[in-house]
Order: sequence, then C-alpha cells, then structure tokens
Amino acid sequence: MTNMTAIINNPDQTLTPVEIERPTPGPTEVLIKTAAAGINPVDWKVRRNGGLTPLAPNQPDILGWDVAGEVVEVGAGVTRFKVGDRVFGMPRFPDRANAYAEYVVAGSREVARTPDNITDTEAGALPLAVLTAWQAIVDTLHICEGDRILIHAASGGVGHLAVQIAKARGAEVWGTASATNHDALRALGVDHLIDYKAEQFEDIATEMDAVLDLVGSGDNPTRSVQSLKRGGKLVVIPGANEIPAQDVLDAAGVTATWMLVEPDYAALEHIAAMIEAGTLRVVIADTRPLAQIDELHIIGEAGGPMGKLVATID
Ligand SMILES: NC(=O)c1ccc[n+]([C@@H]2O[C@H](COP(=O)([O-])OP(=O)(O)OC[C@H]3O[C@@H](n4cnc5c(N)ncnc54)[C@H](OP(=O)(O)O)[C@@H]3O)[C@@H](O)[C@H]2O)c1
Repeated sequence: MTNMTAIINNPDQTLTPVEIERPTPGPTEVLIKTAAAGINPVDWKVRRNGGLTPLAPNQPDILGWDVAGEVVEVGAGVTRFKVGDRVFGMPRFPDRANAYAEYVVAGSREVARTPDNITDTEAGALPLAVLTAWQAIVDTLHICEGDRILIHAASGGVGHLAVQIAKARGAEVWGTASATNHDALRALGVDHLIDYKAEQFEDIATEMDAVLDLVGSGDNPTRSVQSLKRGGKLVVIPGANEIPAQDVLDAAGVTATWMLVEPDYAALEHIAAMIEAGTLRVVIADTRPLAQIDELHIIGEAGGPMGKLVATID
C-alpha cells in the first residue's frame, strides 16, 4: 500500500494532515500528482455545513475541487493524456474531488492541458472560479459584442475572471468592488467601476443587458433588477433561494436564474487558449504549503485580498 498526505476536515471543522492510501485511477481516469490546490468559498461552506451531495460511507472528509499538477498514471481507455502531461481541472463537482491531497484521481474529460505560459500555482487557482465565470458569461448569458453587463463582486475569485471573459467577447463591462481594487480592475479591462460601499449601483448602472450577481445576499439581486433594461437577464450565483420574486421580474420584464458550475474540459480548453493568447490572467492573492491550508481558509473567510488563494505542494 502506498500512502500520501491529505488534509482532513475534522468534526470540529479544523483541517489537519493525515496519511491515507493513495488512490488509483480506474478506467477513463488519470492520477494527478498535485502541485497546486485552489481554495474557493464553497470549500469553507462545506467545511462548516457539509457538502451539496452526501459524503459516501467510509470516505474521509477531504475538501477541495481545484487541482493542477502532472499526470503520473492513466487508467484503461484514456486517450487524451499520457504520463508527464501538466493538467488542471475541477473534477467531480458537486461530489467530492478530494483535491486537498498529494494525489488526485480525475476523469480524463474533467481536466485539460495546462497552458505552457502559466505556473502550476496559477493553473490551480483557476478551475472552479473560471468555469463559473465561463458558464455564466458564455453559456448562460450568451454575452456578445456590444452587450452592457454589470458584474457584482468584480474583484472576487470569479468576478475578476468574468470581467475579462466578458471584455474579450466585446462587452461594455461595469463592475462593483471596493475602491481599493478599482485600479487593478481597470488594468483587467473593466470600463466602469462602482464603489458599492459608497454608491448605489442601480442609480449609476442602468439599461444593462445582463447582470452577473456574485454577491447574492440581502437586497442585491432585487436591486440588480433595476439595473436591467426590459428583456435583460440576471444570473445570481451564490444561491437559488436568492432569485428575486417572480412578480418583481415580471414587472421589470426581465428573467433571472441561478446556476451551478459543472466540470467541463471543453470550456477549460477555450480558457487555456485565452490564457495562451494573453487575454485572460488570474490574480494570486496568497499561497501556503498544503499543510497550512487552514490559514488560507481563515484569510478567505475574513474577506481576503483581491485574487485567489492557493495551496502548493513542492
Ligand atoms: N453556483 C456556483 O456554482 C458557484 C460557483 C462559484 C462561486 N459561487 C459563489 O459565488 C460567490 C462568489 O465567489 P468568489 O469565489 O468570487 O468569492 P470571493 O473570491 O470570496 O469574492 C468575494 C468578493 O465579494 C466582494 N463583495 C462583498 N460584498 C460585496 C457587495 N455588496 N458588492 C460587491 N462586491 C462585494 C468583495 O470585493 P471587495 O474586496 O472589492 O470589497 C470580495 O472580493 C460565493 O458565494 C461563492 O460561494 C457559486
């Protein structure tokens, strides 16, 4: 039996390293030697409240979905990768991927080749956030040339990637963020910035074709309806229960939906092409070795600096 280190979520919600058996890839799966594991808000939500799907019996409670690293073994029938390939992805979501570990098994069509021009740390920061951004902007809102879009929490893990994807599709991009992050967001291409702590966004951003609400709480989604033109679309990401009431939507002549991110190698390949072309980049806020991943949870839960938090393994 070959062991590996993984980070287990204890009943008291603390994260500690344990030695467990290294997984083996089944048919159509690859075994990834983890170089970087990104952190997302869903990680600390699951740490505190449990997952979206029940944990299988006898499975250790290991968090994490974002993984980047090197393929070290391929299962039967895999044609997309060979040993030595660098890959990144978000396997299994919303089931457990067990990404806070030295080795991770993924379906070969849940990961894509890592672009040569980024580090493993950058690749590990991307998957869940960038897939959410892509599936919202491209697949759900169908943003195209000339659209006006307002993106809330533009400085967040998802938001700072969503603004770049919308910009690359020719949209006029508006964003809400703290004033301290406005310069960095302008550098990523955001056309108009609103300080949500000092300004009412619905008074400034009006006649939008689309709003991507990555805040979702309180009255943010209902106020977002006021920013839309008739026929406009609202996507609320944090929770399905935060969609405005149907009579509010009907009165404004707009539609609203929630979406849940899905593993998607084809989207990751489009994203990799953008990274190679220099039209998309991820901002890294902070890193820690895997054994200190609990410190990244504390930073993230406190609001944290702009960009992504990533655990690394030498
Ligand atoms: N449904 C899904 O599949 C899915 C997928 C991914 C994420 N999510 C959820 O989407 C949310 C965002 O995720 P994330 O990874 O981007 O989070 P994050 O990186 O933690 O971003 C949080 C950001 O929110 C901003 N913010 C806080 N209050 C705000 C307000 N009232 N108006 C505008 N911005 C505000 C802060 O900006 P400043 O620092 O500039 O103040 C901060 O940068 C989380 O709730 C996450 O769980 C859901």
